[in-house]
Amino acid sequence: MVATTHTVSLQGAIGHVVDVQVDLSDGLVGTSLVGRPDTSITEARDRCRAAVKNSLYTWPNTRRTTILLSPADLPKRGPHFDLAIAVAVLAAADKEFPHGSLKNTVMIGELTLDGRIRCVPGVLPMTMAAAARGFETVYVPEPQMGEAAMVPGMSVFGIRSLAQVVSLLKGVEVPEAPEVEALSGAPLLSWRGEERLEDLDMADVLGMADTRYAVEVAVAGGHHLMLTGPKGSGKTTLAERLPGLLPDLSDDESLELTAVYSLCGALPDGASRLTRPPFRAPHHSASRTGILGGGSGRVRPGEVSKAHLGVLFLDEFPLFPTDVVEALREPLEAGEISISRGEEDATYPARAMFVFACNPCRCGEYHPYSRDHHCVCSELKRREYRRKISGPIADRVDITRFVEPVSQQRSADTLPFDRPEPSAAIRLRVAEARARQRDRYAEMPWRLNVHAPGPLLREQWPLTDAAAVRLDTEVYAGRLTRRGAVRVHRVAWSVADLAGVQRPGLDELDVALRLRSATPLLLSSLPVHEAEATVRPA
Ligand SMILES: Nc1ncnc2c1ncn2[C@@H]1O[C@H](COP(=O)(O)OP(=O)(O)OP(=O)(O)O)[C@@H](O)[C@H]1O
Ligand SMILES: [Mg+2]
Repeated sequence: MVATTHTVSLQGAIGHVVDVQVDLSDGLVGTSLVGRPDTSITEARDRCRAAVKNSLYTWPNTRRTTILLSPADLPKRGPHFDLAIAVAVLAAADKEFPHGSLKNTVMIGELTLDGRIRCVPGVLPMTMAAAARGFETVYVPEPQMGEAAMVPGMSVFGIRSLAQVVSLLKGVEVPEAPEVEALSGAPLLSWRGEERLEDLDMADVLGMADTRYAVEVAVAGGHHLMLTGPKGSGKTTLAERLPGLLPDLSDDESLELTAVYSLCGALPDGASRLTRPPFRAPHHSASRTGILGGGSGRVRPGEVSKAHLGVLFLDEFPLFPTDVVEALREPLEAGEISISRGEEDATYPARAMFVFACNPCRCGEYHPYSRDHHCVCSELKRREYRRKISGPIADRVDITRFVEPVSQQRSADTLPFDRPEPSAAIRLRVAEARARQRDRYAEMPWRLNVHAPGPLLREQWPLTDAAAVRLDTEVYAGRLTRRGAVRVHRVAWSVADLAGVQRPGLDELDVALRLRSATPLLLSSLPVHEAEATVRPA
């Protein structure tokens, strides 16, 4: 007597369908569980036995019960195997069980001792994995039905107890059961914070035309941004206004991001898809696991992954611990982060736009272009402070800006570029620039300039000849690394996309080079937008 059910095992954000096969035979009485289960699954044996008994079914106590999880070489973890194991045991023991109902069906859920179902994190990515393997039906804890239903073409059953599942499978009347508690929504506190940020508008930022334009380019192409400047110069002010500049997520992006939040167990009850790009701003004292992901027990995504398709803002960057800073190289370059712990390797997506803010020195007074600053730090101290920003991280940052404090006189300036502009107007231009990128990369697995691989970029989307020669010159002169050249090439595309230019030439390249090297932009290279041009004084 053999019965097979199916569930999903997650390795990072990737799901694998696991077959749970139960065999009942004569011989030495007992229950064995084979196929690389971790401790939480080994415990499933006891939970399942109690749940089966308390649901008024009989556990095959007088038989030899073998439970096999396959493929055998895949490490399996998590308590959500319970449901598939309990149903497989009952199906094997019951001569009348309709085995056909188990075909093409995936079961996800933890069991309590009295046979009720508990919610588990990761229902959405698990359902996505099952759908990709051609499964059509999924049983999930009732509060998580909404998550599973986001996957097109899946028929979803929300259940409260083991007895309900068995009745549904057998096609008999479904018994009542008490409601299932949703996963705790504590991590959602930060989402409320995000709503606060949505109301902040760029129109409140005075002056800094140069920096505002740099921010616009960064958002348009998803480029990493570093803002340095003395205290109170408006770095945090500017960064907090980024959410208002980001357009809504597309359908596939929204599913991707929601899957990450499902993994964290951070989707609210009856959740719908997340449609806004996230903005995450972890504090420098946050734990390494909190920022990068990992953890003892269950491995889970960190802030870098929660910022996927949005913005990760690291304020006061030099204060972050060195090991965290070093580990950021991978997500900065590859858009993902791998975590290995013991036997388990997990890779989570982390395609965020990184925004770093820092003071030029510890006291925050130093000014690189002016002699009459009041900095009290020694040159050595300043270097020490800046060491974390320099090197490999700086090489991966596309746009660096020195934010100057806006003096009263300057903010009353009538230069058209210095007029504050509302976020909505900027967002519109960003959306257009992003639409151009989406068209250009329609056949490709990425959407933004920042993710276009260097060799392909040179081959299929090159700069004009003159600009390409100029870029090579920069590299040969030692002013740019090869990686730097690729990143400048991408920024040049974003500048062109914002301006509606077909192919980046010398002008766009010049802007991109200046943006990278923290050199002030020429006012003549800043675009004048129509609304502003009309207010230009005579
Ligand atoms: N350009 C500006 N336009 C409007 N307000 C500004 C501007 N620059 C600074 N401010 C105001 O000054 C205050 C301090 O700015 P903010 O916190 O952004 O500085 P910061 O550069 O992050 O400083 P720190 O290095 O100390 O963190 C904010 O309340 C902000 O409203
Ligand atoms: Mg600040």
